[in-house]
Amino acid sequence: MNDEVDHSRRRLLTAATVGTGVVGVAFAAVPFLASWNPSARAKALGAPVQVDASKLEAGQMLKVVWRGQPVFVVRRTKSIVEHLGDHDAMLADPSSDDSLQPDYIKGAARARNPEYWVGLAVCTHLGCSPLGAFDPNQAYQLAGTDLGQNWPGGFYCPCHGSKYDMSGRVFKSMPAPKNLTVPPYAFDGDAIILIGVDDAPKKA
Ligand code: FES
Repeated sequence: MNDEVDHSRRRLLTAATVGTGVVGVAFAAVPFLASWNPSARAKALGAPVQVDASKLEAGQMLKVVWRGQPVFVVRRTKSIVEHLGDHDAMLADPSSDDSLQPDYIKGAARARNPEYWVGLAVCTHLGCSPLGAFDPNQAYQLAGTDLGQNWPGGFYCPCHGSKYDMSGRVFKSMPAPKNLTVPPYAFDGDAIILIGVDDAPKKA
């Protein structure tokens, strides 16, 4: 993994996804989904979404839609992964005991593979979509807020100011009551992620 990120190229990537059936769609296709007949749409919204995260560089993320909800897929730098446990004392629920995630999502990394973090892009306060602010100790000014000198990298919700770390764990004394939710997902290969299932299909 290349840990040297060219920050000027950091950007939110809209995923080119391939889903089961027709579900692996990016945001732009959502209005189109709404025009389908209800049974096809309902079926599509419940299907898993396949994401090829192999093109993500360390420090980048993409966003896909699963069951009508935006989902972040973040590729974390090696340094970020190594320091995830350093700021537990600043977090409201560091062990995610009171937050939502599958049983197999444990520890500070909250991931099946620590390199990739997958979580709903839905603030647990009132549902806004947080912004990515991944560089530790950078002087971020997001939505008029200074994230502070000791910022460890994470997400910032511009609606009411909730802050989350790089595992979607909310900091203490924030409007948001819980960590960002981690949906069920599985790896089908090194960087192919199936969002919406606990296990990848068995190969024939
Ligand atoms: S919706 Fe995110 S802080 Fe209120």
